[in-house]
Amino acid sequence: MKVKVGIVGCGVVGTGTVRLLLENSNIIQKKTGVELVLTKVADKDWERKREIEIPTYLRTHDYREVIKESDIVVELVGGKDFAKNLILEALEENKHVITANKRLLAEDGLEVFRKARERGLHIGFEASVGGGIPIVKALKEGLVGNRVRAIYGILNGTTNYILTKMLEERMDFSHALELAQKQGYAEADPSLDIDGWDSAHKICILSMIAFGRYVPFEEVYVEGIRDLDLLDLELGKELGYTLKLLAISKRRDGSMEVRVHPTFIRSEDALAKVSDVYNAIMVEGDFVGKTMFYGKGAGGQPTASAVVSDIVDIAKKLLFCTKDKDQLEWEDQSLYLSKDF
Ligand code: HSE
Repeated sequence: MKVKVGIVGCGVVGTGTVRLLLENSNIIQKKTGVELVLTKVADKDWERKREIEIPTYLRTHDYREVIKESDIVVELVGGKDFAKNLILEALEENKHVITANKRLLAEDGLEVFRKARERGLHIGFEASVGGGIPIVKALKEGLVGNRVRAIYGILNGTTNYILTKMLEERMDFSHALELAQKQGYAEADPSLDIDGWDSAHKICILSMIAFGRYVPFEEVYVEGIRDLDLLDLELGKELGYTLKLLAISKRRDGSMEVRVHPTFIRSEDALAKVSDVYNAIMVEGDFVGKTMFYGKGAGGQPTASAVVSDIVDIAKKLLFCTKDKDQLEWEDQSLYLSKDF
């Protein structure tokens, strides 16, 4: 049996996802038994240059066509309002949804997950945090037996790339930002990256999974790297410290502390050595101890890898799962609904 997949938004990640599905569907089918069929890809602009040429039979300007023709709708448009309406519309049409939209999930996740829960549908969001690093699955599955004490790390590839370039090539901030944008790493609105909001959205999502508790986004302390000077980085280095934008979430006296800010780390520490567009996430659990997850945190191909892992996950549930609907809903959505710690 086939599972039909459609994509809305064919930017860097959308194009990477189309490419992965066109190139690797056979391998996926061999490994999992799932036959994925790409139905339609919607975008408003088919003229702009992409990493690969999208076959004309897949292209449409109409996202509703994608919803109509697919079992799973992948939302990769970014932004908030249009993306949210599109997701709600897809859920109304009883379609499962995958999104990389961390802003939407961190700020309006409750509404979206409630809607999915009401209708017994899945929302996959592996691609919303850590690019290609399977951190959502690791927290939901691999580390589920642990009482998590803390999660912290580098969650934004663009700012890490900027800080790396500034220090290694003695470059000023704005020049390094331009380079990151040229590479397709930065968000459409770069203030989401450089002012720390993107990291804040991501740590909020990870905290909800790891601690099983809703984290209101307004409660996250956020400070970015816009005002950092090359001199700050160089002086730190001389003293044996490397400046990184860290996202931190900890249990503290029965409540949670969630924050994002530039932090000096001892240069010999593992996190200090994370350079370029790489992300690294440390998770401390009571039984597992400290674990570290490392990989490319931005870019079309790594993020496409995460999108496709969600596609396969949902497709497997659709094809092979015999559990009842309530159980499936609980697995996917409970974390956004619990207010208890
Ligand atoms: N702008 C984001 C980053 C993209 O640089 O990490 C991936 O979420």
